[in-house]
Formats: sequence, structure tokens, C-alpha cells
Amino acid sequence: MAVATKPAKHDVTDLGLAEAGGRRIAWAAREMPVLAGIRERFAKERPLRDLRIGACLHVTAETANLMLVLRDGGASVALCASNPLSTQDDVAAALVAREGIATFARKGEDRDSYYAHINAVLATRPQITMDDGADLVTELHTKRRELLSEVRGGTEETTTGVTRLRAMAGEGVLAYPIVAVNDALTKHLFDNRYGTGQSAVDGILRATNLLLAGKTAVVAGYGWVGRGIATRLRGMGSIVIVVEVDPLRALEAAMDGFEVTNIAAAAGRGDLFVTATGNLNVLGKEAIGCLKNGAILTNAGHFNDEIDLRALGELATERRELRPLVEEYRLRDGRSVVVLGEGRLVNLAAAEGHPPAVMDMSFANQALSVEHLVASAKTLEPRVYPVPRELDEDIARRKLVAMGMKIDALTDEQTTYARSWKAGT
Ligand code: NAD
Ligand code: ADE
Repeated sequence: MAVATKPAKHDVTDLGLAEAGGRRIAWAAREMPVLAGIRERFAKERPLRDLRIGACLHVTAETANLMLVLRDGGASVALCASNPLSTQDDVAAALVAREGIATFARKGEDRDSYYAHINAVLATRPQITMDDGADLVTELHTKRRELLSEVRGGTEETTTGVTRLRAMAGEGVLAYPIVAVNDALTKHLFDNRYGTGQSAVDGILRATNLLLAGKTAVVAGYGWVGRGIATRLRGMGSIVIVVEVDPLRALEAAMDGFEVTNIAAAAGRGDLFVTATGNLNVLGKEAIGCLKNGAILTNAGHFNDEIDLRALGELATERRELRPLVEEYRLRDGRSVVVLGEGRLVNLAAAEGHPPAVMDMSFANQALSVEHLVASAKTLEPRVYPVPRELDEDIARRKLVAMGMKIDALTDEQTTYARSWKAGT
């Protein structure tokens, strides 16, 4: 890894952490072979030559590897955090001091610093935005509209961001095309499900050292993230109850073998709660009123508003830190409720986020979507677009090869048969 002669523009916690960050980035790279292949090609072909990219992503070792791909593809990149608690300070330092990538992120930053960092990225006048949750895009469309004319396109990493962007497009306010990376199959089937499934459990365990076996865990939301978490908690021996609002997903959870009920019925039974809905106040005031003494509340959804922390604060007479990222609320009626990582995504606040092997595919989608946007932005409308199917399949094939797996191909006879209707019983 090169050491930059002069640090890039930055606001990070401690540049002295750069060496440790460099080691962490290199360790992650070992599990990111698809991205490595793209980096090699980008370094030769330079498809992002002279492009300015503004990225608002979780500042992790995996994200650092994506930044290096974009830089080697010819882009100049500026990066800020997409969550105040998800930054790995050593990685941020390494990006600045060793790789020359402008980075604005500190773990534990307050709301003002969070938006100051987004604005530092916007000040680089990005032509492509890369967002995780749509805070950068929203800031650009509401407060920095003078910059919109230079933007050619963008990408969005997560479900909640895609939902917000579709709402913007629906209201006719989205000003440029955005590729919904989240919706690629090689993203959400693996990242949201297996990535969050493992890393949310990892975050809960690192924060608490709880024995999960025999505990009753309530998972709210049985989408891609909720399925992964429910499955992994069951694998650790927890008794898992699923709470859903969508009848099809509730039915799926039931036939996957989970008890399904509503939050009112589940609230008094859980030892551990994990919200994964992308929605608001899922653990609201009424549910909080029914919680068992000592219940642990965590969130894996994008924003920290799935647990009604305001209601909890109003019901509490005292708050105190029991361990790092573990906060106890003592309630007026004498019960105690514990919240992990300020209700922010527990896998990134209390652990290291998804393992690099899944981010390999998510970030391969990011890199290839930027290349696609550069090639075709002029022909695209200001809408939300899918990742082209051929890119998604190409990533799956490359991942299989990297994993040493083989798959079959249809014979000519099978292809003809699959297209015909005449052959029957
Ligand atoms: P999804 O749309 O597939 O699933 C969400 C599910 O929640 C849906 O089935 C929906 O019916 C259900 N739901 C909505 N409101 C509910 C309520 N009040 N009670 C119970 N269920 C409710 O979305 P997803 O891909 O699973 O993502 C969920 C959230 O996790 C999003 O905010 C997403 O951005 C975030 N996410 C986080 C990570 C991470 O690293 N922590 C990774 C990927 C996605
Ligand atoms: N989202 C979830 N896990 C992540 C990771 N390790 N890096 C970047 N974004 C993530």
C-alpha cells in the first residue's frame, strides 16, 4: 500500500491510527476477490478518468477497498460517513494519510458534524453521488441545489435510501438518475440477509456478551434483513418470535417455523428485541410500557427511529452507561430497559458491519453501476433505475469462480425444450 506524500483534505479523529487502518483494509481485501478483479481492470482502462465522486457510506475497511477501486479507475473521491456511529477511525485515517482520499468522518460525531461532513463532500462538486440512506442526496436537493447542474447520476446502497429516492421521483423532485444498488440480487439476497444476519448478532454479542441460547428474541420485520437475523438468532439457540405487518411475509415467517404475532403480544415476552423494518416507532410507547424488566432493545434498520427513544426518555427517571454502547433506562415503575448503540444499526455501531465477503458483491455492484452511469447517464431520465441484469449475473458468476464453485450450462437440447410448449405427458 502506498503512503501518500501529503494527507488529503480531511476531518478524522486521529491520523496516528493510519497504520492500523491500513492493516485492516488489507485484511478485508483478502475476502474481496470480485472487487479486486474490477480494480485491476479499472486501473488499466481508467473508465472513471477525471470524474469527481462524492460518497456518503459507512466508513469501514470494506468501503475503503471500494474507494481504492474508484480512485484507480481515475476518479477523485471524497468520502463522509452515512451514520454517526459506524466510522472505523483507523480506516478513515489510513484513507487520508496513506491513500490520499479526502475523508470526513469521526466515530461518535454529533448531528452538526455529520452534516458538516456531508457538506464537505458536496463542496468537492461531485458529478456522481454514492449514498447509503439518501442523506447526501437529500441535502443536495434541499440545501445545495446550486450544485445539481454538475451531477450526472448517483447510486444508492440501502433499502431505506431507495424508498426515499422513489418517493422523491414520485413527487417529481429527483433531479438526476440514480441506480438502486440495493435492488440487485447480488446485493440484497446476500448483504441484507446473510451480512446483517451475522453482523447484527456479532454486534449484540460484542456489546453485551449475552448468552443467546434459551433467550426469547423478538425480530420486527421479516424482510431481507429480518429473515437473516431471525435465522441466525435461531441458530444460536434463541426462541424467535417474528412481528410483521405484511401478510405474505408473516406467512413466510410462520412456514419458516417462527411464531408470528403482533408487537402488543410480543412486547411482554422478549428478552431481546431487534427491529429491522425501515419504519418508525416500531417499538413504540405502548410496547415499551409492556417490556419485561431488563429487556434489551436493538435496531438493525437504517435509521435510529425504529425504537421510540423519545418515549423511552420520557418514561425514564435515570439513564446510565453500563458498558460501552450499552445504556440502561430506569423507568418510573422500577423496570430497567437496555438500549444498544443508541438505537443505531447495531452491526455497525457495536461490531464491524458486514464481513468483506458479502461487501465484495455489494461494492462490485457500486463500482460497475458508476461505470454504467458514466457510459449512459446522458440517455437516462431523473428516475430510480435497477442495476442492469447482466452486471448482476456477471458479479454472481465471478463470485462463484472466486469461491471455487462450478455450475452447469444448459445443453442445446435442454434450451430448445425449455422454450417449447408442444412436449407434454
Ligand atoms: P424490506 O423492505 O425487505 O423489509 C422490511 C420489512 O419490515 C417488510 O417486510 C415490512 O412489511 C416490515 N415492516 C414495516 N413496518 C413494520 C412494522 N411497523 N412492524 C413490523 N414489520 C414492519 O427491507 P430490508 O432490506 O429488510 O431492510 C430493512 C431495514 O434495514 C432498512 O432500513 C434497510 O435500509 C436496513 N438495512 C440495514 C443494514 C445494516 O447493515 N444494518 C443492511 C441492509 C439494510
Ligand atoms: N453496511 C453494512 N456493513 C457494511 C460494511 N462492512 N461496510 C460498509 N457498509 C456496510
